Amino acid sequence: MLWIMRFSGFFSAAMVMIVLSPSLQSFPPAEAIKSSHVDSYLRLPTHSLVDSYLRLPTATHSLDKFSFRRAPAFRNADECRSPKLEKSSVCDPSLVHVAITLDVEYLRGSIAAVHSILQHAKCPESVFFHFLVSETGLEAVVRSTFPELKFKVYYFDPERVRSLISSSVRQALEQPLNYARNYLADLLETCVSRVIYLDSDLVVVDDISKLWSTSLGKKTIGAPEYCHANFTKYFTQYFWSDSRFSGVFSGRRPCYFNTGVMVIDLAKWRRFGYTRRIERWMEIQKTSVNRIYDLGSLPPFLLVFAGHVAPIEHRWNQHGLGGDNVRGSCRDLHPGPVSLLHWSGSGKPWLRLDSKEPCPLDSLWAPFDLFGRST
Ligand SMILES: *[C@@H]1O[C@H](CO)[C@@H](O)[C@H](O)[C@H]1NC(C)=O
Repeated sequence: MLWIMRFSGFFSAAMVMIVLSPSLQSFPPAEAIKSSHVDSYLRLPTHSLVDSYLRLPTATHSLDKFSFRRAPAFRNADECRSPKLEKSSVCDPSLVHVAITLDVEYLRGSIAAVHSILQHAKCPESVFFHFLVSETGLEAVVRSTFPELKFKVYYFDPERVRSLISSSVRQALEQPLNYARNYLADLLETCVSRVIYLDSDLVVVDDISKLWSTSLGKKTIGAPEYCHANFTKYFTQYFWSDSRFSGVFSGRRPCYFNTGVMVIDLAKWRRFGYTRRIERWMEIQKTSVNRIYDLGSLPPFLLVFAGHVAPIEHRWNQHGLGGDNVRGSCRDLHPGPVSLLHWSGSGKPWLRLDSKEPCPLDSLWAPFDLFGRST
């Protein structure tokens, strides 16, 4: 099987496929290019998106095509700590907090992710969702699909990062909502001191409370690490040749990690000002003579956290399942147990299922799909 990396940019929908050497097969860099939201940009002319952001778009008009079935009510098992009957607040310490972005293009994926979490949680009524949006109109979709869901919607202003996203041939691929994860510590209430951040192209097939209770030790974030991946390639020659930049990794053993599944200690994040540190690297990328990296939202995260990540079992991010839309590029699971399936890469299960050319593992996503009218 060939692992294929998508390289995209100036050529709008053009894709250049690079067949990687077999030694890299277990560590496809496809997910390094944040897959979520990329496709939507490829399909839409950039200028219209810029315009629509300036107008604070309402998603409602484009939601006509969306129709989601109402999910059944999910109830806590007897042994769950009963949530307060008086309206349980976001500050209730017994809650598990999950943050996910919502946008029109990936809504079907986000809804399936929520559905999968509720279905596998022993205490589904104790999960609180924090949805990050840059469009209006999505809250009503969530409410009608999950009538009893505990959630809050946060508006992420794309202007917050637009000036920080480096202007390059890849700008069309830099969906601002991709960067919302950098701002969770600012956006969420200060009483929320830990959050699980999840991409929109995944399903959880285990009890989310197990991931929630992972120890982070002294670290601020936890994620599955991939120390066999070639870390060099995430940064440019220019970066590595200047110790003012590459010196940031001295004394660290940096490993690649996927930012689509992270457990974040928000209290520590706030205390140490990590948002600002990430922004600093984005500013350096923008203002230095040459680029220090080529990808989007991942490298600043690696610069700040690689080598300082609490390792989480790999079962919590079986990534790369998106592979590529090219036929024959379906990917297999990595060896070992599976608690979360992640369709990072350019292929998305809902698109492939619709096209009647799904990959074998897409059938594992289908049961969580709520798209379509109830019969
Ligand atoms: C890692 O990637 C860099 C840059 O792409 C390359 O020059 C180097 O040979 C690679 N190292 C290994 C061990 O594959």
